[in-house]
Parts: sequence; C-alpha cells; structure tokens
Amino acid sequence: MVDTSVDLVILGGGSGGYACALRAAELGMSVVLIEKDKVGGTCLHRGCIPTKALLHAAELADAARESEKFGIKTTFEGIDVAGVNAYKDGVVNRLYKGLTGTVSSRKIQVVAGKGRLVSPTAVQVGDSTFQGRHVVLATGSYARSLPGLDIDGERVITSDHALELDRVPASVMVLGGGVIGVEFASVWRSFGAEVTIVEALPHLVPLEDEASSKLLERVFRRRGIKFTLGARFAGVERTGTGVRVSLEGGEAIESELLLVAVGRGPISAGLGFEAVGVSMDRGFVSVDEYCRTSVPTISAVGDLIPTPQLAHVGFGEGILVAERLAELPVVPIDYPGVPRVTYCEPEVASVGLTEAQAVEKYGADKVATLSYNLGGNGKSQILRTSGAVKLVAVKDGPVLGVHMVGSRVGELVAEAQLIVNWEALPSEVAQLIHPHPTQSEAVGEAHLALAGKPLHAHN
Ligand code: NAI
Repeated sequence: MVDTSVDLVILGGGSGGYACALRAAELGMSVVLIEKDKVGGTCLHRGCIPTKALLHAAELADAARESEKFGIKTTFEGIDVAGVNAYKDGVVNRLYKGLTGTVSSRKIQVVAGKGRLVSPTAVQVGDSTFQGRHVVLATGSYARSLPGLDIDGERVITSDHALELDRVPASVMVLGGGVIGVEFASVWRSFGAEVTIVEALPHLVPLEDEASSKLLERVFRRRGIKFTLGARFAGVERTGTGVRVSLEGGEAIESELLLVAVGRGPISAGLGFEAVGVSMDRGFVSVDEYCRTSVPTISAVGDLIPTPQLAHVGFGEGILVAERLAELPVVPIDYPGVPRVTYCEPEVASVGLTEAQAVEKYGADKVATLSYNLGGNGKSQILRTSGAVKLVAVKDGPVLGVHMVGSRVGELVAEAQLIVNWEALPSEVAQLIHPHPTQSEAVGEAHLALAGKPLHAHN
C-alpha cells in the first residue's frame, strides 16, 4: 500500500540529502526526507562540525600554553574534557535546531526511520511506503576498518568514538595519516597526549601536493607528533593498559588507544539498491556526471557515490540533482576545482591540480611552480605560523592549482578557488591589490612572484 505520494523521496538526511530536499522544496516540489538518525548526518553530528569545534578548543589550549611567546602571562591548568564536550555539543545542537527549523519551514516531510528501496520509485519505512516520481539515494558513509581489525569502541576506536571520549588519553596511535588521522592527531597533541601516526603511503595527507605533505610533516615533528610513513598495519593485541600494534616491518608500538582512520566506506548494504537494478561498484552507487544512476528514476549523491567525500561536495550534488529534476540548466561539477581543507594545526588547503598531476597532464616542460614562504607575510609572522603558498601553473598560462600550509590558510582557499576555476593568469592576479596586513597577501604575493615581480619574496 502506498501511504504517501510526492515528487521526490530522499533516502538519507545528511549534507547531500538535505541540500537536495531544501533546493527541491524551493523549486516547488513536494519532498519526503527519510532519516534513521538525525537530519544533518555525519557532517553535523559526527564529522565536520564537532571535529572543528575540538580543533578550535585545541587552538585555545596551544594559545594558553604558548602565550608567553606573545608577552602574555597565563597559567595553563589543563583540559576540562566535559567542558570541551559541552562546548562542542552546544555548537552542534544550535546548528541542528536551525537546520530542523529550516527544513520544516520549507514544508519538507521528514520521516524518522530506516528506509529501504523497494522499487524504482518507492522507499519503505516500517509498514509505510513512500512513492516519488523520483528517488534520491543519499545514505552516506561509515568509518571503515581493516580485515582482522575489530573496532571495540573502547581501545580500538573510530572517529565516532573519538568524538565522545570522556578523557584525554595519555597516548594514542593513529592508523592512517589521511584527513581524519591528522586532524585527531593534532587535537590530541594540543590536549597533551603522546601521538603516533602510522601511514601506509610515503607521506601524511598523501593526496595533497607533496610539498604540502612535507611542510605539514616538518611542523608535526616540531610539535612532537610522531609518525611512521610507508608502514602497514599487521595486527593488534590488547595489553593490560591499552593496545600493542604491530607493523608489517616487525615494529610494535604500545598506546592507550588505537584510532582507526583508514577511510570511509559507502552505506549501501541491505538497502535494496541492487535488487531494484541500481548499478554498484564496490559498494558505491555508480553515477554519471549528473548524479544519475543506472535506473532512470533514481539519482544518488554524497559519500554514497565515488566522488570526494566532502560535505560541500554533497551540498553541490544535492542542489544539482534538485535543479536537474526541476528542468533547470545544470552544469556537471568540476571535482578538481572543489577546494579541500584539512583543519589540523597547521592547516592544509588546496584547490586544483597538484604539481605531479599537472606534469602528468601537460608535461614537465609546460608546468611552472612557485612557492611563497609565509616568512615574508606580515600577518603570518604576527600569528607566528610558518608554511607556504605554492602555485602550479601552465608556463606563461593560467594557474592550475594552489596549495597552502599554515595556521588559518583554510580561509584563503576561497580566493584560490576563484583563481583556479576562472583560469586566471598570474599577471591578472598580480594586478589585484591585496589588503595589508592579511594572510591573503601571501596569495597575492605568490602571484606577483610568478608574474616575475616578487615583492616580499623570502625563500
Ligand atoms: P583518507 O582516505 O583521507 O585517509 C586514510 C589513510 O589511511 C590513507 O592515507 C591511507 O593510505 C591510510 N591507510 C589505509 N590503509 C592503511 C594501513 N593498512 N596501514 C596504514 N595506513 C593505511 O580517509 P580518512 O582520513 O579516514 O577520511 C575519510 C573521508 O572523510 C575522506 O574522504 C576525507 O576527505 C573525509 N574527511 C574530510 C575532512 C575535511 O575535509 N577536513 C575531515 C575528515 C574527513
């Protein structure tokens, strides 16, 4: 029996699903949004927002501890974990309240419960069936583990558990030096823990330009964050006080906790997708550049599809699908043109091609690079941060990529995004006078230097 019939049924109320719902409702569609937990999904409840609140608390801990460098006398008494969690949860709750208000003001029907796709146009929740002219799958992702590595939520944990810890662990081993691994390593180190990262590839944040990875590694080393690169996990055993992790090379590391941060997998098993004929690839729903699945009445967005697992990508895909269904003209997302920010201290931010990708695409003789050291940037010196802005460009042509490391550089990537996506020439950006003294000047000065007229270049 069909209980409700609408224009659009969306399965999953995270960034991708709710963005699609909001835009579709704005465009006059009737929408059912099915969510088994809380609208807002991973980003709001277990990802971007709570982790960035922890990172902000970590920044304050560092500032308190290091204030003498600025001539300010403080006494650092320690981390009140309950207080930090109350602050973090307060941020999440305020945003959650705002989001639920926005969703209900747009007349979106939110259905609480676990949905299952039962036909190309219907999702079942318990005994109720919701029929849509179109269905959007947006069930998101979960923290993956490795074969033989059981997550117990006590000593072997994922980021979900790390966000709920009631103490600062004395020592943590972080398996995976990707985005989640370096962000938690950064928080825990600022909170006073001994931290060791194990990364299978040759660098931390291995998807970034190698120069960014090396700058991050240099500062992490200075901060006392240990890391072992090119090392694979072999096994873990429980000890009296924690865990002993062995690596394939034979090395063993003991710590109180093991955080597993080896990637996130799609939530698609047992939800009826394949039975209805949706093509899948290793658990991800396969889509074309317009987020269309192999079933004409079904689209998919967010972490469930094999595009970058970023909340802002989910927002973009959700909006694209809503506009396509409303028959507005839509343009496929240019994924390399989407900015990426890792919010550890120092931050790592980038957009566009890395040097290696540019060389592969254009050939080494056609690619120019320039690294502008934050040593020459007044505001960065005021903040006492080090790092760089690296540009990758076509020789005598447009900028292809911008790669930055340093405190707060995440806020600079929006300008970098315009430069890369509008295919600006270094000389054109050099024409734009940047406000002094800001960190954004570093972006301007990098382009001045690449255009052949460096000002405060400092290499
Ligand atoms: P990730 O893919 O970024 O990093 C996982 C790392 O684990 C990789 O560097 C990989 O080489 C390493 N690894 C895998 N198997 C290993 C093994 N056996 N031994 C040692 N190392 C091993 O995944 P992560 O950090 O779990 O994040 C999941 C997703 O969430 C990512 O796509 C990320 O972009 C997204 N995310 C984004 C954030 C942001 O934008 N600031 C913050 C947190 C997560």
